[in-house]
Amino acid sequence: MNLPQGEAPIGVFDTGVGGISVLRAIRLALPGENLLYAADSGYAPYGDRDADFIKGRALHLTRFLLAQGAKMIVVACNTITVVAVKELRAWCPVPVVAMEPAIKPASKVTRSGVVGVLATSQTIASASVARLCESQGDHIKFLLQPCPGLVERVEQADLTSDATRALLLKYIEPLIANGADTLVLGCTHYPFLMQQIQAIAGPDVLVIDAGAPVAKEVVRQLGLNKLMRAGGGNAKTSFFSSSDLDTAQTVMSALWGERVTVGEIGRIE
Ligand code: DGL
Repeated sequence: MNLPQGEAPIGVFDTGVGGISVLRAIRLALPGENLLYAADSGYAPYGDRDADFIKGRALHLTRFLLAQGAKMIVVACNTITVVAVKELRAWCPVPVVAMEPAIKPASKVTRSGVVGVLATSQTIASASVARLCESQGDHIKFLLQPCPGLVERVEQADLTSDATRALLLKYIEPLIANGADTLVLGCTHYPFLMQQIQAIAGPDVLVIDAGAPVAKEVVRQLGLNKLMRAGGGNAKTSFFSSSDLDTAQTVMSALWGERVTVGEIGRIE
């Protein structure tokens, strides 16, 4: 495997289409970089999958992106980050940037001292989220809310149906009733529901997504590793999926905001 420089793309992946919210932030911060996005929608949601399964898929997706020449890997998924990023970093020959739920920034801005965290059950139950919360001190109360079912809605680009709204109401209303004035979106699928979440939470509640800080870290790591593409111009964004390609194309085009062509995440020998 030759380690590519400059012209090579940045490889971004998620369990499904949620990481497109991170890809959006990276594209905004880096208009001149070639980007690859791999959605493991054929296996999403990872939900209650065990750690070995998640580590195996993370390795497979990373190897796929490296085979396409990726010069950096972005794990655009909180669940994969908490379960598999340590092993991935130890093995991966290019820099790896991963997610961190915006618990630190939320702790700085909350006025009520109550922060709600919305994420998948795996992320909510993880030692890294527990550590992050503890490190903010006793004066902040964290309401940790697992949100089963939400990833599935976004995987279908179903952002506004009654079913989606019913789930959001069930998860968000108790947080607000218990004093949360700041909500952390700890899953990369949820920023696609930002408008609906904000409408339910109300205008005085700050809803924080970690896409922009991750994009900032990608910029920093490109600089540190001297991997920035020179010149910019004609930057491409290419999409891949492990699910049915027609469905993937419809959903990914809807979430990306323009028509995209989707290639297959194939086998890697
Ligand atoms: N986008 C993933 C995350 O940030 C969803 C995980 C899943 O498929 O369960 O956690």
